[in-house]
Amino acid sequence: MLRLTNRQILLGITGGIAAYKSAELTRMLKKAGADVRVVMTPAAAEFITPLTLQALSGNPVHLQLLDPEAEAGMGHIELARWADLILVAPATADFMARVAAGMGNDLLTTLCLASDAPLCLAPAMNQAMWRDQQTQLNVQALQARGIQLFGPASGEQACGDTGIGRMLEPEALLQAIANQFDYDLLNGKRIVITAGPTREAIDPVRFISNHSSGKMGYALAEAAADAGAEVILISGPVNLHAPAHVKRIMVESAQDMLDAALHTADNCDVFIGAAAVADYRPEFVSTNKLKKGKEESMEIRLIKNADIIATIAALPNKPFTIGFAAETNDVLNYAREKRLRKQLDMIIANDVSIAGIGFNSDENQVTLITSTDEISLPQTSKRQLARQLIEHIAPHLPTTR
Ligand code: CTP
Repeated sequence: MLRLTNRQILLGITGGIAAYKSAELTRMLKKAGADVRVVMTPAAAEFITPLTLQALSGNPVHLQLLDPEAEAGMGHIELARWADLILVAPATADFMARVAAGMGNDLLTTLCLASDAPLCLAPAMNQAMWRDQQTQLNVQALQARGIQLFGPASGEQACGDTGIGRMLEPEALLQAIANQFDYDLLNGKRIVITAGPTREAIDPVRFISNHSSGKMGYALAEAAADAGAEVILISGPVNLHAPAHVKRIMVESAQDMLDAALHTADNCDVFIGAAAVADYRPEFVSTNKLKKGKEESMEIRLIKNADIIATIAALPNKPFTIGFAAETNDVLNYAREKRLRKQLDMIIANDVSIAGIGFNSDENQVTLITSTDEISLPQTSKRQLARQLIEHIAPHLPTTR
């Protein structure tokens, strides 16, 4: 179940007898490699203990909207943004009615409202409640908003009735969740991504660098690998683990990054330059540590580094080449000009002057610019954004190369 590896699944549990099956679902999700956080309504906690779900998920269980301790750990908005997908299983008739009405009167409904992640519900209720006209109207309203319903199944019910209303079995729910993640989008494609800063040595202990965290490039590498691509990540020095199924090449300087890019870009389908490459490097690198002199000032002469992405874009067999334009003003104009100057197929523009997005933050808001389109994507987590970017990039690629 590769497509669930590292997926961040928020599992909501509402108050129905089927809640006990969600313990097994949690165990299966974890086994499939997903990271699971559980949110329970107070009624759910009457059916199954939070401690069980905490032990199975390996994470604290979230119970209340205004719990100072939980908010200090991971606040509810952070949790909403964290999720790659929200599944509420079991979803009672009451819960579905509240989501259909757009209410946010407890933690779980608030998270459903606050999250951009796909929302899926696994209804579980008595067959008469399921058939009820208002419940059916709610089902239609939820589906019209793109909310997916898994089940319910038909069969014997806990109350003794027989009919439609049973929650799907955990195996079926696991498969339904896995199906939400499109695994084939970049099947057979080779993608090279640069990420992070470069370091330009002054002497053996000093260097010139920048604040790039590498998060956007790493998120893209993860999303591309999840979409089935063979991914090579050329990374400057960062504090991040290599995503699963990604081949990482660690480099230091812009020259190292260029060498690695030229070495790997041959025959790749897509090249994404997410690295914050130093534009200049010291002309001379001292072999010994520079000692403080008597002078009140010192000068380091800098010379220009090669432009990595422009070099790749100029290759005879060039891949679909995508750059980033991190700007502080006149963002779109600079980005358009940069795309043309570097001969890129696409440029991803972002405004790094806005607090909370761009450099070193977990979120980003970008505009994609190609020769024909300009598409603005709303602010979201870098992981979510990476998935959206992959979806926008995939249609540009030829089916065979
Ligand atoms: N880039 C690169 N090699 C460089 C400089 C930049 O590959 N030596 C890539 C970046 O990875 C990014 C894009 O070019 O995808 C734009 O980077 P940016 O620093 O915004 O562009 P510069 O050309 O350096 O322009 P400026 O700093 O003047 O805005």
